[in-house]
Amino acid sequence: MTFTHAITRRPGKDMAAGITTSTLGPPDYNQAMKQFDAYIETLNHCGLSVTVLDPLDGYPDAHFVEDAAVVTPDVAVITNPGAVSRKGEVPSIAAALQHFRKTVWVQPPGTIDGGDVLMVGRHIFIGLSERTNQNGARQLGEAVTGFGYTWTPVPVAAGLHFKSSVNAVGDDTLLLTRSFADHPALAGFHRIVISPQEAYAGNTLLVNDHLIMPAGFPDTRQKLKSLGKPLIELDVSEFRKMDGGLTCLSLRF
Ligand code: GLY
Repeated sequence: MTFTHAITRRPGKDMAAGITTSTLGPPDYNQAMKQFDAYIETLNHCGLSVTVLDPLDGYPDAHFVEDAAVVTPDVAVITNPGAVSRKGEVPSIAAALQHFRKTVWVQPPGTIDGGDVLMVGRHIFIGLSERTNQNGARQLGEAVTGFGYTWTPVPVAAGLHFKSSVNAVGDDTLLLTRSFADHPALAGFHRIVISPQEAYAGNTLLVNDHLIMPAGFPDTRQKLKSLGKPLIELDVSEFRKMDGGLTCLSLRF
């Protein structure tokens, strides 16, 4: 899929108050801003026009914009995030997206985070996690099946979101952690399995045939190089401290 746009949001100075399970310590705001600017530059380099929203007061996770919507070429599905502290992020994302797509809203008791949703061609994998429930997955599936999409729910046993561990790195190739390597739902794909000590590198982003991976994972880098695509490494250490990464910092469409 070729993308032309992205929506992002600058981190707020309160970003350290977001949800995290990490033991890496609090993020450095100034360093995070430098990393965020490099991320925007990289999306521009990959051909995207990037909308940068202002920080959202009172929502320290709001720069992880991907969790608030799922954007297909036909429709933008506005999520009901699974974390109570993040539910108020969605109106401003819906307002930004309405310039580009018709919007459909996931209703409670359905919950879903965009970080659990992986589109590969016209198939959508929906991770069932602490943030995404069966009802939310079904609502997303129903919103997109009329446009020719199929979908599969996949239980997420480790990591925050499905895309913390599994991402597309080509039309028929997935990069995934060992825990998903033999999952029957993913069996039809060529699979590149990450070594356990580099599990964070599973959060690699494919944008217009460029691979953007987190810096500091040499074994995964070597494996991805064999795909022959331009490979860009970005330092996202400050977002990792808040359980975030490359995929959740933008909505691409
Ligand atoms: N800090 C990202 C999240 O937990 O949603």
